[in-house]
Amino acid sequence: MKRYFIHTFGCQMNVNDSLRMGEALASIQYAPTPTPDDADLIILNTCSIREKAEDKMLSALGRYRTVKVSRGALLGVGGCVAQQEKDKLLAKVPYVDFVFGPDNIAKLPEIIGRVTGERERVVETAWVDTEEYVFPRADPETSRGKVSEFVTVMKGCDNVCSFCVVPHTRGREVSRPFPDVLQEVAGLARVGVREVTLIGQNVNSYRGGISFAQLLLRCAQVPGILRVRFTTSHPHDLSDELIDAFRVEPKITPHFHLPVQSGSDRILKPMRRDYTVEQYLERLEKLRAARPGIAVTTDIIVGFPGETEEDFALTLSLTERVRYENQFSFIYSPRPKTGAALKEKDWGAVPHEVKIERLERLQKLQRTISGKLMSEAKGQEVEVLVEGRSKTDPLKRFGRTPENRTVNFDGDAPAGALALVKVERTTPNALYGAQVRMLELPEVGALALET
Ligand code: 5AD
Ligand code: SF4
Repeated sequence: MKRYFIHTFGCQMNVNDSLRMGEALASIQYAPTPTPDDADLIILNTCSIREKAEDKMLSALGRYRTVKVSRGALLGVGGCVAQQEKDKLLAKVPYVDFVFGPDNIAKLPEIIGRVTGERERVVETAWVDTEEYVFPRADPETSRGKVSEFVTVMKGCDNVCSFCVVPHTRGREVSRPFPDVLQEVAGLARVGVREVTLIGQNVNSYRGGISFAQLLLRCAQVPGILRVRFTTSHPHDLSDELIDAFRVEPKITPHFHLPVQSGSDRILKPMRRDYTVEQYLERLEKLRAARPGIAVTTDIIVGFPGETEEDFALTLSLTERVRYENQFSFIYSPRPKTGAALKEKDWGAVPHEVKIERLERLQKLQRTISGKLMSEAKGQEVEVLVEGRSKTDPLKRFGRTPENRTVNFDGDAPAGALALVKVERTTPNALYGAQVRMLELPEVGALALET
């Protein structure tokens, strides 16, 4: 058997795509290897969301060149950079053997055949027509032993946010038919998975035969599934129906990742986010009324072209007002072919030092808020879905609360169990405590899979 190594950059969609690549490669007798040094095939699954991600992949490519030269390994580039850079990559990097886009994963065996058989360099980045797109089906067996898994429900993005490269790299939105999604969830539940996260670049604009709210409710009904999560959402698709789903179905976890991007209407407009801060807050208020205590997280971009100190101050005050559980904040990075990159000069680029300084202030504020929110959990008993041993301390157990808070605790609850844990200590990132009692054991088959 030949061996493959995949280096994955970027988001959960890419992580999932890498798993599908592995399954496609298994069909032509390739087995995974944990190190690139003994691989016969190396694939970089790339991300282009920010310039930094692209730089990282270029330096990795340089490192793998040595393996290519010494072992004669094949080297391929997939994912978002591949989709956008296409032939340029082959021209610029002479030791790359093939380039393929996210829509062409199923073609991987054929691509490898052409590269090895006909010794040609291959580029496969054609979009598959919306009507013809078939989502690669995950093999549930590869998830045996996992407590929590991701399920792709849609791909692509039809929004026009001016900073974002995703519409260029992932194409138009396509939703996966709901019976396929439910079948995959049921398959995962059968091998012991207890929590599913439905993923897509814009999940709540799902149109796979039923609404996204209905899809969540149906997933929650699958026997064996205890929790249903999803990511990531655009505020304009946060419908009343979705809010109601939070009201009626406790298995839909009390966590909502709702990227706001900026706290200033003056910046949201050229970002083309099509909501105002007031409208965003109004949606959030409704959501919190439907599920009190729901943890809200967000994404923020600082230093978008034209952002003034006043605009940034509004982002700080929004952060305080919402009391986000957590934020992923980024420095604005111009991406090829995006509206904002083309207009950056006209709108006024924010100097790099100013961007850094704003990012630091925002992150400091968020750390304080996260710290306070977490410390409020001290003394409480929280429900934890156990995932296994703690990564930081092998003597402790590790799991998550419904809000997606990380918990490290003393106890004996096996992976897949629900345990009640008393919180004794908190940090901005995690809760620490001790098991009070077991609430529910995993299915018998899953017990043996304890890690
Ligand atoms: N620069 C900086 N951050 C970006 N994001 C998307 N595009 C850019 C960009 N050009 C951020 C957004 C998005 C998250 C996934 O990445 O906040 O929600
Ligand atoms: Fe990166 Fe976006 Fe592509 Fe995910 S979809 S890999 S975040 S560019």
